[in-house]
Amino acid sequence: MSKNADDLIAKIQEQAGEAPVALGLILGSGLGHLADQVDGVAIEYSDLPGFPHAGVSGHNPKLVIGDLEGVRVAVFGGRAHYYESGRGDAMRLPLEVLKGLGADRLIVTNAAGSLRDDIQPGDLMLLSDHINFSGLNPLIGEPTDARFVPMTSAHDPDMRRALKNAAKAEGLSLAEGVYAWYSGPSFETPAEIRAIRILGADAVGMSTVPEVILARFLNLRVAAISTVTNMAAGMSNENISHEHTKAMAPLGAAKLERILRRYLRENQ
Ligand code: HPA
Repeated sequence: MSKNADDLIAKIQEQAGEAPVALGLILGSGLGHLADQVDGVAIEYSDLPGFPHAGVSGHNPKLVIGDLEGVRVAVFGGRAHYYESGRGDAMRLPLEVLKGLGADRLIVTNAAGSLRDDIQPGDLMLLSDHINFSGLNPLIGEPTDARFVPMTSAHDPDMRRALKNAAKAEGLSLAEGVYAWYSGPSFETPAEIRAIRILGADAVGMSTVPEVILARFLNLRVAAISTVTNMAAGMSNENISHEHTKAMAPLGAAKLERILRRYLRENQ
């Protein structure tokens, strides 16, 4: 753990108390309002040196520590993306802090484009696995042998099962598929979408994969859910834009919130 992370952990515990956090939740584009549902202490990222500052519109850049459905959680209302800084490890410090606060589980959410006709805007997709289509890695430069992280069951099978059960109990459908990480910030071309479909992707987005790799590096169990905001480039006539992503994310957000709440209630 870096000195910077240790300092941040001490500062956060001073404000939010020292009781260990059980689970971290990273909120994607248009999903940030969930951070306001937690009964706890909110700290602006700008008060946490090293946390992502400017961020992306549609995010809610604060860390909230508190209770959600009886579980002590740390909710990250926004994330840093590779495309903001050129740094693949932009979320390393926040995840080190999460680990240092005691968490052993992480749920990552994002907005994504769908490559499958049976997964439509407004639907949710649980990630069964991912493809790193960016060629980048958040662990480049990590000097220890811990960098050789196995990724075979990176998306935790037990957490995935529990999230699927939670969706079922809520009467909500939760598709499952493979997410491809594209660096952004430009969207993909139709040819790129055709290419990654052949490679096995079901959804595409600009985040999450570095966080899953970092989570496994830090020995956090991790699962991720996409809110589908659009069909991927070339698959429909709708315009793809960040405005559209932000406008569409709330369609899935209400369902996502029900699944997460049920998951937390049943997996303390
Ligand atoms: N591509 C990449 N990222 C996205 C998309 C997309 O189609 N939709 C929402 N985030």
